[in-house]
Amino acid sequence: MKKLFALVLALAMALSLVACGGGSSKPAEDKPADTPASSAAGESSGEAATPTEGGSNLAGKKVGLAMPTQSSERWINDGGNMKSQLEALGAEVVLQYGDDDVQQQVSQIEAMIAQQVDALVIAAIDSGSLTTVEQAAADAGIPIIAYDRLLMDTPNVDYYATFDNKGVGVVIGQYVKDALDLENAGDQTYTCELFMGSPDDNNALFLYNGIMEVLGEYFENGTLVVKSGRTSFQDTCILRWSQETAQQTCENYLASFYAGEHLDICLTAFDGFAYGCKAALTGAGYTAENWPIITGQDCEVMATKNIAEGWQTMSIYKDTRLLAEKCVTMVQAVLLGTEPEINDEEQYNNGVKVVPTYMCTPVAVDVNNYKEMLIDSGYYTEDQLK
Ligand code: BGC
Repeated sequence: MKKLFALVLALAMALSLVACGGGSSKPAEDKPADTPASSAAGESSGEAATPTEGGSNLAGKKVGLAMPTQSSERWINDGGNMKSQLEALGAEVVLQYGDDDVQQQVSQIEAMIAQQVDALVIAAIDSGSLTTVEQAAADAGIPIIAYDRLLMDTPNVDYYATFDNKGVGVVIGQYVKDALDLENAGDQTYTCELFMGSPDDNNALFLYNGIMEVLGEYFENGTLVVKSGRTSFQDTCILRWSQETAQQTCENYLASFYAGEHLDICLTAFDGFAYGCKAALTGAGYTAENWPIITGQDCEVMATKNIAEGWQTMSIYKDTRLLAEKCVTMVQAVLLGTEPEINDEEQYNNGVKVVPTYMCTPVAVDVNNYKEMLIDSGYYTEDQLK
């Protein structure tokens, strides 16, 4: 525990500043907040050429954007960024959110087909449950692009724009490995519990596999001890990425397995889970002095504030402006016959075909680089993080 507590001590120092300032947060109130400033295409990253350079080459085209939920901030940003980029090219945009309700998303896509959209961009709630409506779109001659989450079990998907989903897991795993110097752990052990993503989202298993690629050996050799005994994806996945379920699960773990023990790591796949764990830990009496490592994904505003204040250790920055940009090149490709940028034609087999993909690169963010990554890049303003 010594090394862990050295780390925790550093965090505690940051935390004490917050505590003195009366800034300690109420976990149950952690909710998605503001959205990142959208930017002109191309400003967001040096990663690739911008597709959306001015002009109005999508004038007269109608694009349907089916997003999964507004309960998590990132999708609000994704939808907003894509809408503004497509509109800047002259397209008409129909943007709908499915409230994490599969049937609602199906109805929304049906309505978009009825409105004769020229192309569909879909971030699925349940990646395998849209095959019928995808076939209806194909029958109506409407091309489909999978956004962030792969559309499974269908031939009717032209391209896929996403982040390197296994890479997200690798980055999370590597962060924990480095933070605790697991390579040199010797006899040192750390307790750890896993909170993985939704089993109906193809990304979730990729992320888990990435984590295990880095940390698997430490679970196997006993450096990482999982007192609940739950280490498989099946045993640790959380349906629909529910923050509430993550909180309840963490509460159960703390009560059942950590009554007289310290939980050292909450290895979570999503900022929402990190909020749930934070609430559970606070409820169980954890304080800045013995706060565990908590990982997350998306760098939501609340998560970033928690990182700044020491209540969350790290998150994954996924620049939704860049992803939107890549997706727009795909919309242009299917509507105008241009060539979208593709950097993977192997990994993403949806059960029917390998879908040509552009993968953006995920980046780890913690207290040391959040300003540079999120504020200097224009993703958030300083005011949003106050
Ligand atoms: C996305 C993550 C997000 C999660 C929950 C996944 O499909 O890739 O960025 O955290 O859904 O919304």
